[in-house]
Amino acid sequence: MTRPPPLRLGYVLIESGKLDEWEVFARDGLGLHADRLSSDVLALRVDDRERRIVVRRGAAEDVIALGWELDDAAGLDTMRAHLESEGVAVSTGLASEAALRGVDAFHGFFGHKGLRLEFFAGAKRTNQPLQAMSGPFSTGAGGLGHAVLFTRNPEALTAELHRLLGARISDTITDRLQGVEMEFTFLHLNERHHSLAIGATAGLRVDPIRTRIQHMMLEVETLEAVGDAYLRCKALGYPIAMSMGQHPNDHGISFYVVSPSGFEMELGVGPRRIGPDWQVGHYRGISKWGHHSEFTPRRRDRFGTAWTALKSLFRRD
Ligand SMILES: [Fe+2]
Repeated sequence: MTRPPPLRLGYVLIESGKLDEWEVFARDGLGLHADRLSSDVLALRVDDRERRIVVRRGAAEDVIALGWELDDAAGLDTMRAHLESEGVAVSTGLASEAALRGVDAFHGFFGHKGLRLEFFAGAKRTNQPLQAMSGPFSTGAGGLGHAVLFTRNPEALTAELHRLLGARISDTITDRLQGVEMEFTFLHLNERHHSLAIGATAGLRVDPIRTRIQHMMLEVETLEAVGDAYLRCKALGYPIAMSMGQHPNDHGISFYVVSPSGFEMELGVGPRRIGPDWQVGHYRGISKWGHHSEFTPRRRDRFGTAWTALKSLFRRD
């Protein structure tokens, strides 16, 4: 059995029919640098990379791909060999697809819920100054941030992400959320406390989340940047899924806002890093304080969530 080389989250590809809404949400709400490259492509920056989050026009209203970065071309080749040795059907991205993502080349496969897991080395950089109300952002050895997946089979997904990506458990949390007992498993691929996390209902396993990811998180370096973004999002009327609060496991302080595509974006500060003497822990409650919902989903959306959960019972994960 081969081992995957170290990975960090490098880019996120979103498909949406609401590029105008995404541009305002990202620039004026979250406080990211927004470059509207065409009527069909919005590129978001948080550092000197040309593109960290790409929103391309399409019907999915969802995250399409997570791009995992390797140190160099040799690492990219090693990753491909590792995936193929594990029986994964890996395909090489077209040059036009690599250009859209702002990377030199990539390969990938279709993972959980059809989410593309892609791998690249060599991202395009720019010396154009960053024009972002939030920041500075933390994107170093821990990568861009994290994404949270929901599944009906958390044990199998945890094992698959370990086998294919080398993800290791940081800790677990159980909590009762909106009357439903939930289990969360946090996975690290590098020094970031979690680059991926897996959410599942306890007992009867259903997946109430329509989108491939429930939320993604970006990290800023100051509490003030989190607070200011929270106030901007609130003032602009974006649904605050969770007000400012602190997680007990990584100690990060953050808030969650619903994006124009329906999944949530988390902006946070101060998550602690994984070190060599890390001990896997278990916590009761996803928040030490705060993280209160500040909006009531519309009846139609509540019905949609229940319907998605029900349908998930009849779908292969
Ligand atoms: Fe998160």
